[in-house]
Amino acid sequence: MRVLHVAAEIYPLVKTGGLADVVAALPAALAARGLDVRVLLPGMPAILSGIVEAKRIIRLGPVFGAAVVTLRRGRLPDSGLLAYVIDAPFLYRRDGSPYLGPDGRDWRDNHRRFALLGWIAAHLATGELDRSWRPEVVHAHDWHAGLAPAYIAQCPALNTATVFTIHNLAFRGLFPLDHHNDLGLMISGADQSALEFHGHLSFMKAALFHSARVNAVSPTYAREICTPEFGWGLDGLLRDRGANLSGILNGVDYAVWDPGSDRALAHNYTADRLRGKRICKLRLQAELGFALRSKAPLLAVVSRLTSQKGMDLVLGALPDVLAAGGQLVVIGSGEAEIENAFRAAARAHPASVSVHLGFDDALSHRIMAGADILLVPSRFEPCGLTQLYALRYGTIPLVRRVGGLADTVIDATPEHLRAGTANGFVFDDASSRVLAGRIGDALTLMRSAAAWQQLQKRGMAQDFSWADSALRYEALYRSI
Ligand code: ADP
Ligand code: GLC
Repeated sequence: MRVLHVAAEIYPLVKTGGLADVVAALPAALAARGLDVRVLLPGMPAILSGIVEAKRIIRLGPVFGAAVVTLRRGRLPDSGLLAYVIDAPFLYRRDGSPYLGPDGRDWRDNHRRFALLGWIAAHLATGELDRSWRPEVVHAHDWHAGLAPAYIAQCPALNTATVFTIHNLAFRGLFPLDHHNDLGLMISGADQSALEFHGHLSFMKAALFHSARVNAVSPTYAREICTPEFGWGLDGLLRDRGANLSGILNGVDYAVWDPGSDRALAHNYTADRLRGKRICKLRLQAELGFALRSKAPLLAVVSRLTSQKGMDLVLGALPDVLAAGGQLVVIGSGEAEIENAFRAAARAHPASVSVHLGFDDALSHRIMAGADILLVPSRFEPCGLTQLYALRYGTIPLVRRVGGLADTVIDATPEHLRAGTANGFVFDDASSRVLAGRIGDALTLMRSAAAWQQLQKRGMAQDFSWADSALRYEALYRSI
């Protein structure tokens, strides 16, 4: 079965979040099952320079304002899978974030930049662009690739099956309605209602409407987005999709996230040899300028610093953490107000709060290994990958009961502790007070080394690899 994945980012070349991790690992897991999988990516500078053995397939233009567009085909650096890369200098040769300009705002031509991505996917599906390979399934990820199913639907003769994965419904790909003139999509009748969203265009809505199957990245999130609370105005459409909407949990690429072999760590370790984790903790404390105290609880945040991620709750709970003798390390970037508040906290408590604003892959691994507890108090969380990484690193996730967090973290209630099923801490109300309370419970349990180790070992032994989810994706493809 020939499957084309279409997305805006891919680890390790361009990454702003978990989407990149999934787009690197899922195609590889499907290929390991014997599927013929390729990936289509926009030619951001890091992608163009990271693809190996790139060859020119075809030259096109002008399209979407770009005078020349060259489609190249090469291999991805880690998996070796074939990838098509759209080289459109006018649209993509921009450094930094794939979505934002240097002023931190969306690029004004994002509708064209990402329409081109969907449009090329559709033309690969017709076989016009690469006569040697034509996908039977086009699998688009998030709004950036959302017009792929719309362009495919516009060619009634095409029988390409389309799948769309929602990684985050909050980003709906909204643009002014009059930009539709730039998209080359007929918008009338039913097609208008597919693309139009309260006086705007929505690439996300187009995908939810036109794809044969839609899935969200966890079963709980698939249910949540059918409600007004989590649906961002699209819950009605999602409810209408009925059985064509499903939830498939993301997996972890243990080739990248394994404390037994992770080269970023001061010392490798396994569930049976946890001494290495203690060394990682002391090294991290030294690196951060904290007191070298193996017993001091070291809490961590590895996250976009946004209200989605409940970062204001962490700030609110911080006094309690400090009062209990805890240390906090934060790595992330995001909303200016939250960044400033964390910066101020680090300035006020340099010996116990350390804040790293920016993206640093190696440091995120060292934190994952050195910390005792990872805080993920999200207001909503489609899947969440960091709690899964934490589990493998013997770092206890403390999460809010939403989306994929609810599906993966089993609360350390007395009952679950007795049954040996607990792997973390869970709380419900999005309040600092409740978060602080649950942190207090975690710190109490931490004082009992045996109970804590049981929790660590349970998480480290769990298998969230892609094998099971790749099987589910394959079944989804076969169903259409
Ligand atoms: P989201 O995609 O919503 O941001 P996920 O938990 O799915 O959340 O994925 C976040 C990914 O980004 C993880 O791989 C995490 O380790 C990584 N990450 C987040 N912030 C940073 C950062 N500042 N530096 C390095 N990696 C980060
Ligand atoms: C999104 C979500 C996150 C999910 C990731 C990968 O960025 O916010 O929860 O894990 O996509 O699917």
